[in-house]
Amino acid sequence: MAMTQDELKTLVGRAALDYVKPGSIVGVGTGSTVDKFIDALGEALKADLKRVAGAVSSSVRSTQRLEALGIQVLPAESVTSLGVYVDGADEIDHGGHMIKGGGAALTREKIVADLAEQFVCIADESKLVNTLGKFPLPVEVIPMAAAQVIRAFGKLGGTGKVREGVTTDNGNVIVDVTGLQITAPAQFESDINQIPGVVTVGVFARNKASVCLLGTAQGVKTLTF
Ligand code: 5RP
Repeated sequence: MAMTQDELKTLVGRAALDYVKPGSIVGVGTGSTVDKFIDALGEALKADLKRVAGAVSSSVRSTQRLEALGIQVLPAESVTSLGVYVDGADEIDHGGHMIKGGGAALTREKIVADLAEQFVCIADESKLVNTLGKFPLPVEVIPMAAAQVIRAFGKLGGTGKVREGVTTDNGNVIVDVTGLQITAPAQFESDINQIPGVVTVGVFARNKASVCLLGTAQGVKTLTF
């Protein structure tokens, strides 16, 4: 019987545990797939199979889940480097570049990812694409610049819209941009970072995945980049 998306997420969440060294501090992303990874960390802790020294979290949501399991969450500023950062993606291409930010946590995700030597992306197979851009690109923007940023994306052929009812953990808004085909992710990321008011663009090219654990009907497929 085919596995549900939820079961695929559980599978890759558990598989990511293999990348976490016992006694290390692990970087933890945000989202429903990461929730499965946090559950797996909790199960390993309970069964005394693997104990981490702590975690650096990319969102209030993940922090709450980690702390509920008794895992200490350290501030990012207290850590100089992390071995591994585990996070999901909204899209990942065959070069390991990603669109992230569906959960509005992209800025903290990029900060924590940048501390890590290895980015382990966990995703179900629906997230693997040839070209980034079908998923509306999240961009965290300082509120007063939202209209200006939307106009700038218009000139690039995209249509931006402020995500309703969402304020990020940093007090900003998210502009979701449709109609883009991101064929050169690294250049695109640099270009968008130049637009005044953009805090973070949801293209992760500089901080791309090192490994993707992809949940497929045949089990976990490991892509390395
Ligand atoms: C949050 C993210 C998530 O990693 C992304 O949205 C994937 O989420 P999910 O695992 O729920 O599909 O970037 O900002």
